[in-house]
Amino acid sequence: MTAPAAQPEPVIRFLAALRAHLEQGTLLKLVLSAYHGPETDLKKLEIRLVELKAGRHLSFVFHHETRDLTRNFSIADGLTEIANRLGKEFRAAHLLTSKEDFHLACSRKGVARLTRGAAAQPPAPATQHNRAKRRLLDHRRPFLHALGLTDAAHVVKPSMAHKWKQINKFLEIFDHALAESPLAKQTTLDLVDFGCGKGYLTFALHDYLHHTCSRTVNLTGVELRPELVRLCSNVAEHEKCAGLTFRQGGLEDYAPSKLDVLLALHACDTATDLALHLGIHAGASLILCAPCCHKEVRPQLVAPPVLQPILQHGIHAAQTAELVTDGLRALLLEASGYDVKVFEFIALEHTDKNKMILGIKKTPSPTHTAKSWQQVAALKEFFGIREQRLEALLKVPGAHADV
Ligand SMILES: C[S@@+](CC[C@H](N)C(=O)[O-])C[C@H]1O[C@@H](n2cnc3c(N)ncnc32)[C@H](O)[C@@H]1O
Repeated sequence: MTAPAAQPEPVIRFLAALRAHLEQGTLLKLVLSAYHGPETDLKKLEIRLVELKAGRHLSFVFHHETRDLTRNFSIADGLTEIANRLGKEFRAAHLLTSKEDFHLACSRKGVARLTRGAAAQPPAPATQHNRAKRRLLDHRRPFLHALGLTDAAHVVKPSMAHKWKQINKFLEIFDHALAESPLAKQTTLDLVDFGCGKGYLTFALHDYLHHTCSRTVNLTGVELRPELVRLCSNVAEHEKCAGLTFRQGGLEDYAPSKLDVLLALHACDTATDLALHLGIHAGASLILCAPCCHKEVRPQLVAPPVLQPILQHGIHAAQTAELVTDGLRALLLEASGYDVKVFEFIALEHTDKNKMILGIKKTPSPTHTAKSWQQVAALKEFFGIREQRLEALLKVPGAHADV
């Protein structure tokens, strides 16, 4: 790492301390804050050492107002990134190590001040991946073995490591969302997991709510493929999962009498819209959706003249179609009385389907609803979109279309 020549002395000393603690394995984390760069919603950047398949890396988590973004850098590149941003974009930095802590504060005029003190955090092993985590799911739970996630000794199989990570991240997100929702204190919950596949997330959620939170759960996994429904039903019966059932069929044929939580995780293309519509229509307090492939909007997209040079490239058109589709879905949820957050579900290194749309029902505001509908109309017009499935379903009361 070479600090740019113009760096003030305290910044150079701070960077030297960072490098020394990295080398000694005593780094806990680095937090860069007081951001003054071009990204209006970036709050802070947290950096930790992580052990990846490709060796040790620095994991950068960019905390924005409503989402977090993770990027991993080699140690050398990460240190260069930090040196380039420190004192300029980020005017404050806190280096936490198991031996001592450092605070760096830089003024608008570039005057820097470094303070050094005793370690505020108890010593912990060097990498995030080694650190004992507070997990919401115990890897020794028998259903994990029955589903093939763990071996006979209850160790997560290497081939299932990414799925395990995804399950745990999903439970964390669910746990936070539930606490913020009108369901926070409700002891009985009715849930549907649409397109539940092999049921990893369905079983994990059931286990968390029933076993860990001691709630009464009526959770139905809906799945088209009969062999998966058979497998899940057998495991649920064998493991005596009270209130967990699996139903073969499409969501288009499913109309629950009561619905608190709707999950649609990686449901293909417009199946996501059908699921969102079902959740909205049934008045679900909580909707969690991780969209999968996006095929509907792409052929309709008409590039506005100023975007033509960009959208002439197929990959940009596909990315834009995905952005517009999920943007419209988020707006349509808002128009239906939900508080909506769209954020990264799990780092890209674990899955490429990594977006989560989270809707929490709130008291509807007519002004807000009208504004969201106007924004939907304006976006559709801008991109020449004739139809988006969720919008079409919401406009026809009681509609149940084919996916
Ligand atoms: C990519 S898998 C996702 C599985 C699981 N939700 C997860 O995230 O791990 C999508 C599943 O949705 C099912 N599916 C697709 N369209 C469906 C529909 N209309 N009704 C029910 N299931 C559907 C597929 O059979 C498949 O198993």
